[in-house]
Amino acid sequence: MESKQQKKKINWKLVGTVTFGVRRYFVLGSAAVLLAALTAYAIPLITSFTVDYVIAGEKLQTMPSVVYGWAEKIGGRDYLRSNIHIMALILIAAALLNGVFTFIRGRSVALASEGIAKVIRDTLYRHLQAVPYDYHKHSSTGDLVQRCTSDVDTIRRFVGVQLLEIVRTVAMLIVALIIMFSMHAFMALITTAALPVLFLSSFVYFRKVRKQFTLSDEAEGKISSTLQENLTGVRVVRAFGQQGSEIEKFTRCNAEYRDVTFKLIKMLGFYWGLTDILAYGQICITLVAGVILSVTDGFTLGQVMVFTAYAGMLTWPVRQMGRILADLGKATVSLERIDEILSHPAETEPGKALKPVIKGEIEFKNVCFGYDAYDDVLKDISFKACPGQTIAILGSTGSGKTSLVQLLQRLYTCTAGEIIIDGVNINDIDHRLLRSNIGIVLQEPFLYSRTIRENISIVKPDASDEEVYNAAKIAAVHDVIESFEKKYDTVVGERGVTLSGGQKQRVAIARMLMQNAPILIFDDSMSAVDTETDAAIREALNKRRKSSTTFIISHRITTLCEADNILVLDGGRLVQQGKHEELLKVDGLYARIAGIQNMLEQELNGGGVKSEHRDQGTGI
Ligand code: CTP
Ligand code: MG
Repeated sequence: MESKQQKKKINWKLVGTVTFGVRRYFVLGSAAVLLAALTAYAIPLITSFTVDYVIAGEKLQTMPSVVYGWAEKIGGRDYLRSNIHIMALILIAAALLNGVFTFIRGRSVALASEGIAKVIRDTLYRHLQAVPYDYHKHSSTGDLVQRCTSDVDTIRRFVGVQLLEIVRTVAMLIVALIIMFSMHAFMALITTAALPVLFLSSFVYFRKVRKQFTLSDEAEGKISSTLQENLTGVRVVRAFGQQGSEIEKFTRCNAEYRDVTFKLIKMLGFYWGLTDILAYGQICITLVAGVILSVTDGFTLGQVMVFTAYAGMLTWPVRQMGRILADLGKATVSLERIDEILSHPAETEPGKALKPVIKGEIEFKNVCFGYDAYDDVLKDISFKACPGQTIAILGSTGSGKTSLVQLLQRLYTCTAGEIIIDGVNINDIDHRLLRSNIGIVLQEPFLYSRTIRENISIVKPDASDEEVYNAAKIAAVHDVIESFEKKYDTVVGERGVTLSGGQKQRVAIARMLMQNAPILIFDDSMSAVDTETDAAIREALNKRRKSSTTFIISHRITTLCEADNILVLDGGRLVQQGKHEELLKVDGLYARIAGIQNMLEQELNGGGVKSEHRDQGTGI
């Protein structure tokens, strides 16, 4: 799978976009890398000059004559010998310069890599807000989160560490080879003999252990998903007494992670140990060859020092480069995974993107809709709603109620027929304008982990306290909020765990009321509220919403009976519509459901139980 993905082309346009603002840092970083390499290599050369010329009095053929010229100018060898601190100062200066260039390199690389990561994250986040709703429905949240975090991090690491490391190693190799070959070709060959072996062994080895790295990543992923599932499902775990098996499951994942990682560390330890022997062997051989050459070929002590130092300086980056090149595929795969999101088209306007004044006149004309082409969820739906009317929708679960109101928000587009709002086809209305004119309380309301006040005033952040309180009063939740210690400043826990289901629904109703929209939708939003509160909320709403067209989805006849038009859905078809009294007279689904609920109510009341029943018992 991975290799198949790697064969795909890199999207260079994307690379161009994300690197746009930071390219100058790459140039600066590369220049600093080169200068740092030069100064690093200068240090052994200065030592060699001190040992050979200043101390032993030998002039080397290989040392550029300007160096000796400079030495003569400031007083010759004798002067330098009696003022040896000058050499020490030069050494310190070289080391300082090296430090400055290394700092510039680190800074440029950090600016480039963090800059790129920020641009990618921002672009991804913005794009995720723009893609159609359907895209989110079909993607796994965990996967999207991973792409926005760890895939971005892989690229950040590639740019921040690996890319410049390659430049650094190549620069170091070139500089070292030029210096060494100009000094002594044979010694240069001996000093670099082990480098190809080191490079190839690390490349081949890290390609081989890649599988183990993947296994370790997967085992870690399993631990976090087990943990996440346990924490989100904590109620189910407790309620069904599953703690034992949950602990067992976690222990298993944890042990697997330990074993896999341990094996990986063992493999790495073996490799680093083995190649360390090779690296030190290389230094030893250089030293021995240097000593032999000093006897046979007039090689100086300073030169031996230079070659031994270079042998040590080259082995680590070369080994590291083999590893980086073996890892290179990872960044490509991450880039593709990010590109996959970005290449998904953003939500488009199929029509003219008009911005009419929306009053709430709605007409469905023979509307059909299906989530996939071969199975229609809504079939030939036609009805009309005038501004200010209340439309109720009743139907068994899965009959298409939520789908119908989603069409109204144009989260999906109908496959046949048309929806007309205030005389304009819904497809021709700007989708942002359309949605801002529709207030909705979802079947499963989502509250942010913020204060209740912030949650209610999310669509109108500058709302006065009075407005917030009024909305909460209509939603019959004001008194509940007031009873909390911090009142409206109570922070709703993650996904609203500190509130009961009914309280959450009512906060969501208050939030919707703040929008003051001409079209309101309640998708089964009183299901967790007892019948009396339900009635109280409806009464308060009735007083206020005269100008809004309201859709109420409910299984409860008492909630629906006052509506101007009741739509009865069955298997995606609109089987009945009309007022409560009219529908009761016809022998149909509505009359049957009303009959059952009525009977149940009477039984409950007769049995002395207060009418706080929920709808589950009615079987619809
Ligand atoms: N459906 C689907 N893909 C979705 C949502 C729903 O295929 N993304 C299907 C469901 O399986 C169901 C049908 O569409 O068969 C209608 O779903 P929905 O409109 O959500 O039904 P409701 O009437 O709202 O059901 P409930 O009362 O349970 O909310
Ligand atoms: Mg529904």
